[in-house]
Amino acid sequence: MRVLLLGGTAEARVLAVALVEEGVDVVSSLAGRVRRPRLPVGAVRVGGFGGVAGLRRELVGYDVVVDATHPFATTISASAATACAADGVPLLRLARPGWGASPGAAGWRWVSSSEEAAVVAAGSGGPVFLTTGRQSLTRFVPALGDLRVLARVVDPVGVELPPTWTILLARGPYSVDAERSLMRRHRIRVLVTKDSGGDLTRAKLDAADDLGIGVVVVRRPAGPAGVEEVSDVAGAVRWLRARTG
Ligand SMILES: NC(=O)c1ccc[n+]([C@@H]2O[C@H](COP(=O)([O-])OP(=O)(O)OC[C@H]3O[C@@H](n4cnc5c(N)ncnc54)[C@H](OP(=O)(O)O)[C@@H]3O)[C@@H](O)[C@H]2O)c1
Repeated sequence: MRVLLLGGTAEARVLAVALVEEGVDVVSSLAGRVRRPRLPVGAVRVGGFGGVAGLRRELVGYDVVVDATHPFATTISASAATACAADGVPLLRLARPGWGASPGAAGWRWVSSSEEAAVVAAGSGGPVFLTTGRQSLTRFVPALGDLRVLARVVDPVGVELPPTWTILLARGPYSVDAERSLMRRHRIRVLVTKDSGGDLTRAKLDAADDLGIGVVVVRRPAGPAGVEEVSDVAGAVRWLRARTG
């Protein structure tokens, strides 16, 4: 069985390890957004497929697809659902649980978009700790352009941002202690995050709760309808084993 594993997440890398250890023929696919990506074990391809049509051409070489991309990577997940349905290729979505069940979650402000998060965060007067990623940064400028903002991203931003903003280049995982110190040092009043889930970046939430800092969380977009889904790597391995008999 040949597996196309759409990745770019920690779960995808863990799944690649499990499949390589079981001798499964797996190719991990990365978008190529990050300059120095953490590479999965085994075979890797990098770069977009060229939309649904390109993905369908690629699928000719595979028996199944596992979509383990980030919960906010909606375009590739939609492409995978459309392409796999068109060609009758089994598709599994591996999506880690969000942070909604965390102890402090009921006290966080849940919003539906980056723009709404920006408006809510602006109400604090700043400084704002923005951790929603490089691609969405400009969506926060209209509401937060005059406030002090600490924006943490993995790679340089490449667009001009307001002079009141500080860009911090860093990549998780982060510890609660380090997050607490960072937020204290910058006198952060509110943390803005997407509901990415997982452990690599959750320390900021625990630190914010400890310090009594407000938290604004952008809700996850809905995934494509009708796609079978599991929430952890073990579930994905079981699903794949069931297909190899
Ligand atoms: N969005 C986030 O917050 C976030 C956070 C951490 C990691 N990531 C990872 O970063 C990658 C890009 O995220 P995004 O939000 O920009 O995705 P996206 O908006 O859903 O995808 C945009 C385009 O990038 C290409 N692409 C995305 N993921 C790909 C993959 N795994 N392999 C090959 N091509 C891929 C596709 O190009 P074509 O149409 O040309 O095929 C897709 O149409 C994803 O792999 C995701 O897992 C995203």
